[in-house]
Order: sequence, then C-alpha cells, then structure tokens
Amino acid sequence: MIILGIETSCDETAAAVCQNKKILSSKVSQQIIHEKFGGVVPEIASREHELLLNHVVDEALREAKIKPEDLDAISVTQGPGLSGALLTGISFAKGLAVALNIPIIPVNHLEGHIFANFLANPNLKYPFICLLVSGGHSQIWNIKNIDDYDLLGETRDDAAGEAFDKGARIFGLGYPGGPLIEEKAKLGHHEKVRFPRSLMGADNLEFSFSGLKTSLLYFMDSFEEDDEITIFDVIASYQMAIIDTLVEKVRRSIEQTNSKRCVIAGGVAANLTLRKILKEKNPMIEFVFPDLSFCTDNAAMISFLGEIKIKSRINYNDLSFSAIPNLKLK
Ligand code: KG4
Ligand code: ZN
Repeated sequence: MIILGIETSCDETAAAVCQNKKILSSKVSQQIIHEKFGGVVPEIASREHELLLNHVVDEALREAKIKPEDLDAISVTQGPGLSGALLTGISFAKGLAVALNIPIIPVNHLEGHIFANFLANPNLKYPFICLLVSGGHSQIWNIKNIDDYDLLGETRDDAAGEAFDKGARIFGLGYPGGPLIEEKAKLGHHEKVRFPRSLMGADNLEFSFSGLKTSLLYFMDSFEEDDEITIFDVIASYQMAIIDTLVEKVRRSIEQTNSKRCVIAGGVAANLTLRKILKEKNPMIEFVFPDLSFCTDNAAMISFLGEIKIKSRINYNDLSFSAIPNLKLK
C-alpha cells in the first residue's frame, strides 16, 4: 500500500510517501517568513501553504519515484492546528483524492507525533508512557494500545515549546526558539540561576510554564553580564528549568503506572539535553526517541499513521470531514 501524507497544521508545509510502513520520501518546507514576526502569523501561514503545497507534494512523489496514479490513499492532518492552515492542506488533499479516485484518511497531528516513535523502532511494544511536547502541547500519555490512550497530565498554560519560543524572544534569539536556546545553552552553566519549577507538589503530573517566562522577564530587566554570570549561563539555566520539570513529571508517571517503556514526541523531543537527562534519571526504563527529523512537524508521521489507520479501518472516512483546530486525542 502506498500512501501520500500531507501536513499543514502550522508553519511547515510537508508531504511524504509511505509504502508498507517504510518512508520513501519526506519533504518539509519551513516557512521562514514568520521569523521576522517572532512567531507564526496564521493568515500568512495559510497563504504560504497554498503557494508551497503543489511543489512540496511534487518533490515528495519525485523523490519516492512514485507517480500520482500509483497512490492507494492520501492521509492528511485534520487537527489540532491553525484553522486556515489545516483547511488549505485538507482542501488540497481532497481535490487530489477525488482526481485520483482514492480514499482519504484524516489523522490527528498529536497521534502522528506519537507514532513517529514506531518509525524509529518498529518493535516498540505497548503499553508505554509518552511525553508529548510541542509548540502547542505539553502532555503525558499512557499509550495502552492503538486508539487506547489515557491522559495522565498536561499543561495548565503555556506548552514547553512555547516556553522555549517565548524565552528565545526575551533573549533576542529568534524563532523557533527551541533549537536556538539548546545551541546557546551549551556555552553556559545551568546551575548559575535558579528559575522556578512550578506544580512540583508530590503526585502532580501537570505542567505550568507561564510563571517561568515571567520570572525570566523580570530577571532580564535588571541583568547585566559580568564575570560571574554570562547570558549563556542564564540561557542554560532557563532551559534546565523547563527540562527539569518535564523529566520529573515523566519519572512520576512511570512510577505511578509501573511502566517499563517511555517515548517522547513533538518538536521539543528534538532536544538532546532532555533526552540525556531522561535516560539518566530513569536508568531502568527502555526509551525510544524519534529521529530528529521526525520530531518537529513533518508528513512522514502523517503518512505512516494513515497507513496504520486505513489498515485497521479506524477513522476511515469519506469526504465529509473538515478541519478541527482543537481536535483532541481523547
Ligand atoms: O511539533 P512542532 O514542530 O510543532 C507543533 O506541533 O507545535 O514543535 C515546535 C516546537 C517549537 O516551540 C520549537 O521551539 C520546539 O518545538 N523545538 C525545540 C527544539 N526543536 C524544536 N525545543 C527544544 N529543543 C529543540 N531542539
Ligand atoms: Zn507538531
């Protein structure tokens, strides 16, 4: 079975081809136009998808050496995401599905992130804990089987990726903030500044990052670099406050559920310091980390999940579906 996946939930225009659970091609065009605004502008994102989609899909098919007529189905991100951005991808996908007379499967973007772990390790066994951390979400899931997921905890305010992005804006680093903060943090010492860790009460599995951002804002108001503390120390300390919280909540989730396995998913999962500390703090746990290119938004995860869904006939839909900007996983 050959599936074309299309992903346009935010500012990456992406297409990929998956054949029998193998990714033949994965193309992502990141819309750099948003950099100058320090964040994604929804209206611009939709227009950019419109401009880029045809080309990105063409490239994915060409690299996979697949002709449109060879496709058996199309999978497309239904949500969550920006309404106009999602609609652009869905309309394109529907048009192509009608023209080729093949089925189309809407898939959940968050579920796509989680399933990217099966691309990294096809032998991953259920159940497992998943730390899902992106620009829009910070959640911990107990993944018991396909379509059988328990939400253990989530953020009350900002997502972890948002905390990276807002921090980067305060540091004047640019967008997206995660990779930039990770890079600069390597030059500093993370124990130099003690930023707050929220909701650390004994059994709490929730997150809150808005207080951290505010405390950085106040800190930077009066901060002057000297021999004692450099800006890189502040960046490293800020990153560690986010990572510490994530790692501690994962540790508790593993403990509370008696889990043996854990995966991470979403853009923040690309953070190598997070991966290292997670392993260090949970030495008995089997970890699976997605390929770096499949952490941030991509269509490989959408095409792969599409194949799984169509084979298990879960969510196998007709053309009547539409974008669901706040689509939940459960
Ligand atoms: O999954 P994703 O591409 O988009 C959403 O679904 O939101 O995640 C994007 C988020 C951004 O907030 C970005 O700053 C963050 O992931 N991110 C990282 C890293 N790479 C991307 N955060 C920390 N470290 C990274 N290396
Ligand atoms: Zn995402």
